[in-house]
Amino acid sequence: SGGPQETMRSAHELAAKLYYHVLMLTEQGSEGRTYVKDRGFTKEQIEHFQIGFAPDRWDALVTVLNKRNFSLDEMVKASLIGERESKEGYFDRFRNRLMFPIWDGQGNVIAFGGRTISDEKPKYLNSSDSPIFHKGQTLYGLHLARPSIRKEGVAVLFEGYVDVIAAWGAGMTNTIATLGTALTEDQAKVIRRNAETVTICYDSDKAGTKAAFRSAAILEQVGCVVKVAQMPDGLDPDDYIRTYGANRFKSDVIGASLTLMSFKMRYLRIGKNMQNEAERMNYIEEVLTEISTLSRAVERDHYLRQLADEFSLSLDALKQEQYQIFRANR
Ligand code: CTP
Ligand code: MN
Ligand code: MN
Ligand code: MN
Ligand code: MN
Repeated sequence: SGGPQETMRSAHELAAKLYYHVLMLTEQGSEGRTYVKDRGFTKEQIEHFQIGFAPDRWDALVTVLNKRNFSLDEMVKASLIGERESKEGYFDRFRNRLMFPIWDGQGNVIAFGGRTISDEKPKYLNSSDSPIFHKGQTLYGLHLARPSIRKEGVAVLFEGYVDVIAAWGAGMTNTIATLGTALTEDQAKVIRRNAETVTICYDSDKAGTKAAFRSAAILEQVGCVVKVAQMPDGLDPDDYIRTYGANRFKSDVIGASLTLMSFKMRYLRIGKNMQNEAERMNYIEEVLTEISTLSRAVERDHYLRQLADEFSLSLDALKQEQYQIFRANR
């Protein structure tokens, strides 16, 4: 029903149709088709996620929008096209890129992520925030994943669009992703409204691990139970699924996800030699400090016992030690 925002959504829907059409049916889409074929995207994945291709031209979308009488100034504000600095015309922002529509919670296309098919920078060009798109409040794939997330009570959170698409191909329908930025509190609240438990499954690299800790803290703050899934060095979920297959991803990665505390314990161990007494004591102290941040007594007790068992220590001694640390840090 009218309004500039409604117009912007219609224009995005039209652009998504154009890009999809270009990818599937046109000569200009042939390089895009080669790319999706090489990456192993199936027809079902392309259809479900409305993947498209922006041709290597400056005026493909501009021409279509113009023909349909969209105000091009308004389309610039919607971040769909750009305006020349001379103000003497408009140009397509997305060129020679594989196009991933980004939807709002109701399934309206409100933005795009465009991946280069060459080695152009940036690898992903995303729509800027606009009256209809707020990156920090949007989660990729949410409207598609919502029924599964609600049914299972679990959302799986990835870094990348293609991770969501690969997981869907592997039969996992409860997955979403942020849009290239750190998880925001707004996004965490949206997730919490749909699921109690979140399994964070970020890329297995330094940046991904760091981001997992940050996201975990934000998700706990809004009341989510957080689990963390890990993959071998350097892989992301899409890489893992292509290398090891859907079943192993589900059993060995998602199925083997750790509670946040176990994930922290594993992380604190990295680079420490447990045969060395000083390093072992240092580890125990760090873990005790983490355990004292847990709000529930049963949880604190659980991990204290685990620690006591692992190092053949008495529970009393650990509690004593924890009390000392607590007093020292006060
Ligand atoms: N991203 C971005 N801009 C970049 C690089 C990444 O916005 N220059 C965002 C995208 O949303 C991307 C996510 O960050 O999906 C994760 O980045 P990365 O792991 O580098 O990309 P992948 O999802 O693994 O994409 P691909 O497999 O196509 O390389
Ligand atoms: Mn905004
Ligand atoms: Mn990454
Ligand atoms: Mn990645
Ligand atoms: Mn990847």
